[in-house]
Amino acid sequence: MDKAKIIGTGKYFPKKVLTNEDLEKKLDTSDEWIRTRTGIKERRIAGANEYTSDMGYKAALEAIEDAKISKDEIDFILVATLTPDYIFPSTACLIQAKLDIKNTAALDIQAACSGYIYALSLAKALIEQNQYKNILIIASEKLSSIVNYEDRTTAILFGDAATACIVSKQKKGYEIESVYLGSDGKEANLLIQPAGGSRNPATHETVEKKMHYIQMSGRDVFKHAVRRMIEASEKALSMANLKASDISWLIPHQANLRIIDAIAKRFTHLDKEKIFKEVVYKFGNTSASSVGIALDMLKKENKIKTNENILLTAFGAGFTFGSAVLRKIG
Ligand code: UT7
Repeated sequence: MDKAKIIGTGKYFPKKVLTNEDLEKKLDTSDEWIRTRTGIKERRIAGANEYTSDMGYKAALEAIEDAKISKDEIDFILVATLTPDYIFPSTACLIQAKLDIKNTAALDIQAACSGYIYALSLAKALIEQNQYKNILIIASEKLSSIVNYEDRTTAILFGDAATACIVSKQKKGYEIESVYLGSDGKEANLLIQPAGGSRNPATHETVEKKMHYIQMSGRDVFKHAVRRMIEASEKALSMANLKASDISWLIPHQANLRIIDAIAKRFTHLDKEKIFKEVVYKFGNTSASSVGIALDMLKKENKIKTNENILLTAFGAGFTFGSAVLRKIG
């Protein structure tokens, strides 16, 4: 059976740069603290009139061009985001309208920072069961819309960005060998936007209490992130009948350099340059977009050789976690 492959990728960053020095002026923090604790130097912030759907649309156009298909060949649009334009309708539908594609299904996936890996799993299954031919995956986040810029523990971390890819059954591409997904809802309160949903609809009180912003217990999340991404990586490797030493490139969720380094300890055979870190330095934590942006950058640097294996791993609110093994074919 032919396996599903990623045949094209894209990304988009808003223009405005928010540096650590900019944050130093507004908050009790320092460039030194942010760099040593997280690795982050700067992040991007979307314009006031630039939305998750706009960024996702631009990343999608690049992925469609890279895949060398016509947009009308897309028959499913999956959008991973925790910052949709609206609670409903879905951002996938808004992007469908912008792309002006007629015969396509459209669905949002809410798996926080693991959303891209969750979307890969769903796309792989739908393509390999011959239900759809060309699935457009988009991950897009306007995290600046839910970050409290008076809270130094979260304001320093997040950035806005989008990525996209096309999953299809062609001869060449990045074959999706395996995807492992997991969840742990017992820890939901450790990373949460408490208001805005049906449990705490918007009221003056929810706004006054700043309940529409991200709230995170950073130290706890850190520990779970390392443990769960290592566990998910081992599961995805075993599903693909591979060992850690068979991996040529490691793309961990770009949330924090120290988390990336902790995961990298399990892959001691890999040289430093084979462990992707560029996104966290320049763009901060872009949630669902992070691993997709990293894959797009690595792919376009033309460094991945035929038959090399790439391991993606991510972790996010929920908790959700997941890993995927890709192999370059052709
Ligand atoms: O994408 C989804 C998953 N999210 C993550 O993976 C994030 C996981 N967590 C982290 O990356 C880290 O926990 C943080 C970067 C958020 C925080 O780093 P930490 O090393 O865990 O710091 P901490 O929370 O233990 O705080 C250490 C100290 C505290 O001061 P005291 O209590 O020791 O006096 C904080 O108040 O650092 C203080 N602090 C800051 N100082 C300067 C917290 N934020 C800042 C700040 N600047 N921005």
